[in-house]
Amino acid sequence: MYIHRVGVVGAGTMGNGITHVLARSGYHVVLCDVEQRFLDRALETIGKNLDREVAKSKITAADKATAMGRIQLVVDRGKLSDCDFVVEAATEKFAIKTEIFRDLDRICPPEIILASNTSSISITKLAALTKRPEKVIGMHFFNPVPVMKLVEVIRGLATAQPTFETVRDLALKLEKTPVEVNDAPGFVSNRVLMPLLNEAMYTVMEGVATPEAVDEVFKLGMAHPMGPLTLADFIGLDVCLDIMRVLLDGLGDPKYRPCPLLIKMVDAGWLGRKSGRGFYKY
Ligand SMILES: NC(=O)c1ccc[n+]([C@@H]2O[C@H](COP(=O)([O-])OP(=O)(O)OC[C@H]3O[C@@H](n4cnc5c(N)ncnc54)[C@H](O)[C@@H]3O)[C@@H](O)[C@H]2O)c1
Repeated sequence: MYIHRVGVVGAGTMGNGITHVLARSGYHVVLCDVEQRFLDRALETIGKNLDREVAKSKITAADKATAMGRIQLVVDRGKLSDCDFVVEAATEKFAIKTEIFRDLDRICPPEIILASNTSSISITKLAALTKRPEKVIGMHFFNPVPVMKLVEVIRGLATAQPTFETVRDLALKLEKTPVEVNDAPGFVSNRVLMPLLNEAMYTVMEGVATPEAVDEVFKLGMAHPMGPLTLADFIGLDVCLDIMRVLLDGLGDPKYRPCPLLIKMVDAGWLGRKSGRGFYKY
């Protein structure tokens, strides 16, 4: 399937990163959010991040200008009707994604693939909201999108083979490495990563070690570029808690019980880097 014009729904951290790599790879992007100020902020971020690539001589100033020229900002979701492909990267709430998928199913022609960048919501459930479940798929990018190579490509129960192949090929065109995964709570990435971060939090809660010591163990002993508590702060402790709850709900095994210290910190509004305080102060 020929893709030229891509709709991106949600202009936050992930939406702006996805828009960045699409526009840099030659796609026309229609970026949609609920308010103009979110779109303006995203465009500013994309501009700064492309400047960094110019400074590192990865692209030229002219490439940057061309990429920026490929991005169209819209509040009216109806303007996604002539996109060849849509990827949703809106807030991780099932109610929000339900409204978006139902609406996209109405707006976009029936042959158009609707992908979601969700970290933890069931692709099978999102697909079931539409009349085209065979054309709904997970396209899970990693933060920061322009840097991270992985795209987890998640097949829902009804996802058709041509849908999978289209998304795999798109990921390759974006110079990413697609990895095929079946739909299950947390997919592979968060199913394995989040319990690690959660267990690191238990060691802090139980006084086994300080956050600094736990992070040193992983950096120096396991060659992780970032320790688990630094990473949890970077991801956002509220996001970590939400994902642990998805794993516990979906898999029903008490081993996925969120660490009480994590719950307490989220209750206190200590959400990590974005709130200025988490396991570390920023
Ligand atoms: N942040 C990460 O590290 C990360 C990594 C992989 C996947 N994800 C997933 O990507 C998605 C987006 O996460 P994020 O970190 O970019 O969140 P974010 O909070 O930075 O951005 C979400 C954006 O969605 C917009 N939005 C909310 N409702 C909308 C609607 N109805 N229509 C259009 N836009 C709407 C918000 O205004 C906001 O700009 C989530 O599903 C998340 O699970 C996040």
